[in-house]
Amino acid sequence: MSAKLIDGKLISASVRQQVTDDTAAFTAETGVTPHLAAVLVGDDPASQVYVRNKERACGKCGLKSTLHRLSDQTTQQQLMDLVAELNADESVHGILVQLPLPKHLDSTPVLDSIRPSKDVDGFHPENVGLMLQGRPRFLPCTPHGVMKMLEHENIDTAGKHAVVIGRSDIVGKPMAGLLVQKGADATVTICHSRTTDIAAVIRQADIVVAAVGIPEFVKGDMIKPGAVAIDVGINRVNDKLVGDVEFSAAAERASAITPVPGGVGPMTIAMLLRNTLEAAKQSL
Ligand code: GUN
Repeated sequence: MSAKLIDGKLISASVRQQVTDDTAAFTAETGVTPHLAAVLVGDDPASQVYVRNKERACGKCGLKSTLHRLSDQTTQQQLMDLVAELNADESVHGILVQLPLPKHLDSTPVLDSIRPSKDVDGFHPENVGLMLQGRPRFLPCTPHGVMKMLEHENIDTAGKHAVVIGRSDIVGKPMAGLLVQKGADATVTICHSRTTDIAAVIRQADIVVAAVGIPEFVKGDMIKPGAVAIDVGINRVNDKLVGDVEFSAAAERASAITPVPGGVGPMTIAMLLRNTLEAAKQSL
C-alpha cells in the first residue's frame, strides 16, 4: 500500500475534543446543556448501531441525548406528532430522525416538519438552500466530515476535479454542493446509475468521493495514480464491513485513502455533535 491512510478516528477525536471543551465553556456560561433528541423507528440493525454510537458520543462530550424509539408499526401521523412535540420542547436543541425509515413511512414530510433551527442533520430544504448559497446554518454531517478530513490532511481542493459517485440527498448532492463552494473551489462531477461509462469519468478524478452503497463498486484500476479516495460506503458483506471502494487495490494507486470502518463514519458523528452545540448556542 502506497497511499497515506486518512484516519477518521484520529481526526474525529480532535473534533470531539474541541466540542467537549466548547460545550463545557458554553454550559458553564449559560447553564444550558445542549440536547439532541434522536428518533429511531423500527429495528433496522445498522440504524440501531448508528443511533447508539451517536448517543454514546453525546454523553462523552457533555451533551444530553434522548432516544425516542418507535415500533415499526408507527404511523406517519404518530411520527409527525412526535416531531411536533420535539419542535415545541424548548429543552431540545437538535432533532435527528434516523434514516432510512421503514418502507410504509414517507421521510420527506417528516424531514420537512423538523424546525429548521433544530435540524442538526441539515436535511431541511431551508438548510439545504442556505448551504448551497454558501451561508449555512447547519452543514450536513457526512459531507462536512469529508471536508474536514481533506482540510486536516492539507488536501487542496481548489481547481481539482472532484468526482462524487451517488446523488443522494444525504451525501452525494450536498457533498457536491460543498466541494463547489467558494473556498473549496473544486470542479465537480456527480455520477450516478445512469452515467455513461462511469469508470472513464472516475479515472479523471483528482478526488473521488464514493457514496453509492455498493460494496467495492470503485475498482482499484479506476483510481488515477495519485488521486485521493474518500469512501463513504458502509456495507455489510458476510458480517464484515466493506466500503464502496476496493480498498487494497485502490490504496496501491491513490495518494491518500479513507478506510472502512474508521474513516468517514466517525467524522459524521463528530459533526453532528458540533451542530447540536451550535443549535443550542443559536437557541439563546
Ligand atoms: N442515515 C444514514 N446517514 C444518516 C445521517 O447522517 N443522518 C440520519 N438522520 N440518518 C442517516
